[in-house]
This record gives sequence, structure tokens and C-alpha cells, in this order.
Amino acid sequence: MPEMRTQVGIVGAGPAGLMLSHLLHLRGIESVVLESRSRDHVEHRLRAGVLEQGSVDLLCRSGVGERLRREGLRHEGIELRFAGESHRVPMADLTGRAITVYGQQEVVKDLIAARLAAGGSILFEADVVRLDGLDSDSPVVHFRRDGRDEELRCDFVAGCDGFHGVSRGAVPEGVLTTYERAYPFAWLGVLAAAPPAVDELIYANHERGFALYSMRSPEISRLYLQVAPDEDIAAWPDERIWAELRTRLETVPGWSLNEGPILEKSITPMRSFVVEPMRWERLFLAGDAVHIVPPTGAKGMNLALADVALLGDAFAAWYDEGRTDLLDGYSATALRRVWRAQHFSWWMTSMLHRLERDDPYESKLQIATLRYVTTSEAYARSLSENYVGLPEV
Ligand code: FAD
Ligand code: PHB
Repeated sequence: MPEMRTQVGIVGAGPAGLMLSHLLHLRGIESVVLESRSRDHVEHRLRAGVLEQGSVDLLCRSGVGERLRREGLRHEGIELRFAGESHRVPMADLTGRAITVYGQQEVVKDLIAARLAAGGSILFEADVVRLDGLDSDSPVVHFRRDGRDEELRCDFVAGCDGFHGVSRGAVPEGVLTTYERAYPFAWLGVLAAAPPAVDELIYANHERGFALYSMRSPEISRLYLQVAPDEDIAAWPDERIWAELRTRLETVPGWSLNEGPILEKSITPMRSFVVEPMRWERLFLAGDAVHIVPPTGAKGMNLALADVALLGDAFAAWYDEGRTDLLDGYSATALRRVWRAQHFSWWMTSMLHRLERDDPYESKLQIATLRYVTTSEAYARSLSENYVGLPEV
């Protein structure tokens, strides 16, 4: 059976796995990334769009921010719509920081290009099936490629394979504790060839459910609607989607959406999920493999990048100086940010979605919260500093 060897074996070529491989390379540490899907698939998978200031700084500082600087859309505020009102939250004025709208698949493309240009090793269509020897100093990643079984032997394994990956499951029973919450709704997301009608994102609380107006470029809009968790996408022809978006978003006199051909649509379930600890022996878990947030706070990709920034430093301390303190502290340090984001994402989700049918008390509380957040500078600053990302948690 073909066997390869590297220092850090990385499972998954999402933002977490690719960024880790890039950061390790900058520190002179070798890695191999194993990805079950094709390069084309991961480069075109439509997902997140909002980068916190800290994520932008990390990408730029590590030399992969050239296109992001050119094409990313810097946003200094968001709009909140509810009860026929619209209010801007001036995040940059309140925090001195901003967010950048830049598609996750663009981050992924930039990282893949940087790794390949540096001679890095990313094996696409390599499906990891099992991890072995995680409690030894020479773990093995077993994967299948072109119908053949292969092995990657390494010093450490980084499980960056998302919620449905195999890494988390390699930890023996009884070691991990799971914390989770399911929500009784999902998001229907569409990408439309329509110039955004606004410069900033709009989060709307509407009696028919949440809606979000986002974008990808001056020509492309990205929009979301709260739908039932078991919603059938076939029940949503384009005209129904636009009609519902108009109802939930055109709540301010004189404001209307720009419509255009829908290029893509999909339904995403919402969940909050954390597994602790994020490390077992020589396996380090990062990103969606260990924590999921509902997308209302725009935190998932940012958390994935923050995790691997810690891991990059921790592996460097081990390889350069034989230090174990950062590897030992990884889980506890990462979990502080993870839980801040868990709370913020749960809070934004609870404030903006229709939670239960016919619960007028809940709706009144939501409007009271939205009024407070749009009139109190202290509360608006709290939302803003979480949304743009707290530098230290
Ligand atoms: P992933 O991107 O899931 O990458 C994991 C990789 O592992 C995948 O490429 C997968 O193919 C691969 N893999 C899985 N199993 C195996 C295996 N057995 N062998 C080999 N490879 C494997 N986050 C934000 O920060 N801001 C947003 O605005 C935002 N909006 C979102 C909107 C939507 C609709 C969705 C769905 C998500 C959104 N998120 C957002 C969340 C964000 O997309 C995720 O948090 C992010 O993708 C996590 O990155 P990751 O690298 O941990 O995992
Ligand atoms: C997106 O543009 O895809 C997006 C923006 C903000 C969110 C979630 C998704 O909260």
C-alpha cells in the first residue's frame, strides 16, 4: 500500500485546512492536505461572505490578501429592519473596525493558488476513511484515492473536515462532550445576477420570518429567507422567492429590491454545536469539525480561521523550540472565542427570526430588543464589537 509521510496531516481543504497548511508553510513546517471533493467543487461551493477585520488582517499579513484588498467590499455598518422601521448600526464609528464582504470560495481559491504556487501538497478527491495511532507519536491517516487505499503517516493530525467529516468520530467514546441546539427553521439562500440595491447588509425581522440582503460584488446579490426546516426547494420557484423577499424587505417607503436571474439556490439547516475539548492526544480539531453557529452572526468562517491561527503558532512553538504549552493550551484558548461567538450567533438568531408560530410575547420581546439596540449606543456598540470581531476574547 502506498505510504506518504509529512509533519502535519490535514483533513479537509476548507478555509481551516487550507489556511493552516499555508501558515505552517510560512513557518517551515510541512503538511499534506487531503480533500474528499474535487478542486472545482471546493472552489465553487457557495457559503459565507463576511470576513471580520481580524480575518482580513490574518489573510493580508500572511500574504494571501492581494485580491481580497482589491475586490473585497469594506462595510462600516449594517441595517436592521423591523416593524416598518429601518436603522443603521454604524459599526466602524462605534468600534474603529469594519467587516469585508468577500466570498468564502474566493478565500479558498486564493489559498489553493498560494499553496500550489509554493509547491504545497493538496490531494483532491482523497477521501479520508480512518485515523489511527492518534495516541502514538506517529499517527496514520487512511484515505482512498482513485479506488485505492493509501496512508499518510505524520506527527500530528489536524481535523479540519467540517461538520460531516470523520476526524471528530476518531476520538474514543466518553472523551468529548457535546453542547448543541437545533432551531425550528432553515435558510433558503439565493445568488442573483442583480446589482445590490444597497451598500450595506440588511437584517430584517418580519412577521413572516427573517430575511437577509447581502451581496458578493457590484453585480451580484446574495439573499436569504427563513423557511421551515423541512422545506422542499422545489416549492420555491424564482417568482415565489422574489415575492417573499419583497414582502419581508420592502418595508420602508420608497425602497425596492433589484431583481435578476437566480443563479443558484439552496437550503441550509441552522444549528448551534460545540464539542469539547478540541484536542485529543495528537488530533487537533478546528473549524466546523468542532463547532457550528447559525449564520446570522456571520461567524463560522471567521472562527475557522481564528482556530488555525492558534494552531499555526502552537505547531511552530513545538517544531522550533520543543515547547508543548501552546499545543496544550489550544483547546481552552480557542473555546473562549468559540463560546463568545456561540452566544452572539444565538442572540442575533433569536432576535431576528420568527421562533414559534403565534407567540406574540416572543415577538414583542424581539421588537423591544431591536428598539434598544438601535437607540442605545452602549447596546449598539456591543452588537458591533461582536459583529466586526473582538480582537481578544
Ligand atoms: P468546511 O468549509 O466545511 O471544510 C471542510 C472540508 O473538509 C470540505 O472541503 C469537505 O469536503 C472536506 N471533508 C469532509 N469530510 C472529509 C473526508 N472524510 N476526507 C477528506 N475531506 C473531507 N461563516 C462566516 O464566517 N460568515 C458568513 O457570512 C457565513 N455565512 C454562511 C452562510 C451559509 C449559507 C453557510 C452554509 C455557512 C455560512 N458560514 C458563514 C459558515 C462557514 O461557511 C463555515 O463555518 C466554514 O465553511 C467552516 O470552514 P471549515 O474549513 O471548518 O469547514
Ligand atoms: C452572506 O453574504 O452570505 C452572509 C452575510 C451575513 C450573514 C450570513 C451570510 O450573517
